[in-house]
Amino acid sequence: MNTRIMITLTFVFFLACGTLHAGGDAAAGEELASMDCIDCHGEDGKGGDGTPALAGMDEAYLVEQLKAYKSGERTDEGGLMAMTVEELSEQDMANLAAYYATLEK
Ligand code: HEC
Repeated sequence: MNTRIMITLTFVFFLACGTLHAGGDAAAGEELASMDCIDCHGEDGKGGDGTPALAGMDEAYLVEQLKAYKSGERTDEGGLMAMTVEELSEQDMANLAAYYATLEK
């Protein structure tokens, strides 16, 4: 492969990585939440029967919890969260956290 193409590809790769780590997109998070999380955590993120409220929580804390459920570091009794986060990418988690952090407590 020609060096210039290699350099360009490397640059594009790092650019893409930078975008992925740029934090959460609340609008994308809202879309994800409306498909899944609201079933248990409520439409406004205020929680419900045995389900904690997420609205207005610290974004970093939320990401930590989602990652912990996914890695198995944090377990929940019925395994509901472990099951839910299975399909989520790191970007999804960041987006969800950004969204819930913007909701009013
Ligand atoms: C099937 C029901 C269900 C669904 C769907 C669900 N959750 Fe949960 N969630 C729970 C329950 C129950 C708990 C409490 C578990 C525990 O004791 O750790 C919880 C806990 C959490 C916590 C930890 C809160 C805290 O105070 O530490 C976060 C964050 C969370 N959920 C986010 C989400 C997000 C984001 C989604 C959507 C991708 C989601 N949940 C979907 C039931 C659900």
